[in-house]
Amino acid sequence: MIELHRLTKRYGDQAVVHDLSLSVAEGELLAVLGGSGSGKTTTLKMINRLIEPSSGNVHLNGVDVRGLELSELRRQIGYAFQQVGLFPHMNVAQNVAVTPTLLGWSAAAIARRVDELLELVELDPAAVRDRRPDQLSGGQQQRVGVARALAAAPRVMLLDEPFGALDPLTRQRLQDSFIRIRRELAVTAVFVTHDMVEALMLGDRIAVMRHGRLVQVGTPAALMRSPADDYVRRLLDTPCREARLVNALLATGAADR
Ligand SMILES: Nc1ncnc2c1ncn2[C@@H]1O[C@H](COP(=O)(O)OP(=O)(O)OP(=O)(O)O)[C@@H](O)[C@H]1O
Ligand SMILES: [Mg+2]
Repeated sequence: MIELHRLTKRYGDQAVVHDLSLSVAEGELLAVLGGSGSGKTTTLKMINRLIEPSSGNVHLNGVDVRGLELSELRRQIGYAFQQVGLFPHMNVAQNVAVTPTLLGWSAAAIARRVDELLELVELDPAAVRDRRPDQLSGGQQQRVGVARALAAAPRVMLLDEPFGALDPLTRQRLQDSFIRIRRELAVTAVFVTHDMVEALMLGDRIAVMRHGRLVQVGTPAALMRSPADDYVRRLLDTPCREARLVNALLATGAADR
């Protein structure tokens, strides 16, 4: 379980995350949605102490994360970065194996796990395992980043737009595999996305952030039933508007024939 209590991050006199309180239950996936610069990445990074809060605190399974060793914290939490952040001098297999290596797994177990994860993110192990990150496309690098976050089967995952660089079809397949893995492993996860459809599909609950503040948090049904304000209403309306547009285009296409 993850609990954020009155979390604030200031740079100078500007609060980029403001008095944010939230909890994510065991096995729950919380989707965090909000515009660019609304404080999503900052919030995620405060959970595993890549960024230290100006005030407030974070508890992981009842323990204040400030009381945990950084290495311990990073081992417990799988993190897929928005900027991917693969180690440039390591090949793909070494990148995926970072945590299992730290944990002292045997070479054979690591090799098996690396191949299994690469297949899971739809990369051909034989073709990519020995390549360096700069020899992969952006979307391929992003998938290696997700494989790395999953490597030691963490119970807690923080995912910062993990599928943002993927084409829609690959993205849909990886979302489906992610839903499956999450159920199997009962992972507790915070998943940042720009995409309301992704949030509705993956999130047990959705947290909407704006200008560093939490606007609303609730199940997809609760948000739809009673959006807290116009901003949430507009966000929810986006997928419907797209669907209407597609329908209108299809109708025009049908008229052309
Ligand atoms: N080190 C820093 N110093 C000053 N301001 C910062 C710093 N890091 C982030 N910010 C500001 O904090 C705000 C929140 O940034 P954050 O990265 O959390 O946004 P985000 O919601 O993840 O946005 P995006 O969707 O674009 O990734 C932004 O306005 C950003 O410019
Ligand atoms: Mg971000």
